[in-house]
Amino acid sequence: MPTAIVRPVSPAIQQCELTHLERQPIDFSRAQSQHASYCTTLAANGYQVVELSVAEDLADSVFVEDTALVLPELAIITRPGAASRRPELAAMAAVLQNYRQLAWLSEPATLDGGDVVVLGKTIWIGLSSRSNQAAVEQVQAVTKAFGYRVQGVELGQCLHLKTAVCAVDSNTVLLNPQWVEPQVFAEYQVIEVDPREEFAANVVQLHYGRLLYDQAYSATAERLRQRGYQLILVDNSELTKAEGALTCCSVLIHETEG
Ligand code: GLY
Repeated sequence: MPTAIVRPVSPAIQQCELTHLERQPIDFSRAQSQHASYCTTLAANGYQVVELSVAEDLADSVFVEDTALVLPELAIITRPGAASRRPELAAMAAVLQNYRQLAWLSEPATLDGGDVVVLGKTIWIGLSSRSNQAAVEQVQAVTKAFGYRVQGVELGQCLHLKTAVCAVDSNTVLLNPQWVEPQVFAEYQVIEVDPREEFAANVVQLHYGRLLYDQAYSATAERLRQRGYQLILVDNSELTKAEGALTCCSVLIHETEG
């Protein structure tokens, strides 16, 4: 059974890190309710949901994706680019060690899991304000024995690589050409987001091929449906204000895919 590791929304969410967004009020109870629906949806789609304990003072701790990269062969505990987020790692490592052998990144590497897109044996890492070339080199060093190639990607004005591009199947990416050069992903099929929906590239690939998708992006959703993808829609409006998207809220552990 696939597993989804999640963490409740912190009561400190209003003090979250923001890089490209203006701060605006977040309705905490609505954020909790939307996050609960996200978890219920994962469970309804076959995931065993493992919830880390709430971190009262770690504002961004709901965004567990940034703390780890899980591959079939090992898990890498990241070193988030925002120092405020590094205390989030211990709880993730304590659980992940039950599923995978762990590797850790070290200074000067910084890496947010949101900057990682895995397609087969290629690991793409966004060279963002959070993740750097030293991380590319360290991830390459610990994954080389398993046949991975790690490639840095230049990013536009968005937080993470997964803000700009996500895989929708093993050979296709959904991408915003304002933030990442489509030519970088020329070896794959490329679907572009609707230009009116700049945040629409973020999508969770579920274990059996369906896509968990943010209901806010209806025009891009239609593009995906026209290509034959089946979508499961959820509301993420409150955590969007915290510069977090759907992939940010879980670390998925699949038996055969990263
Ligand atoms: N608020 C999400 C982040 O900046 O890490």
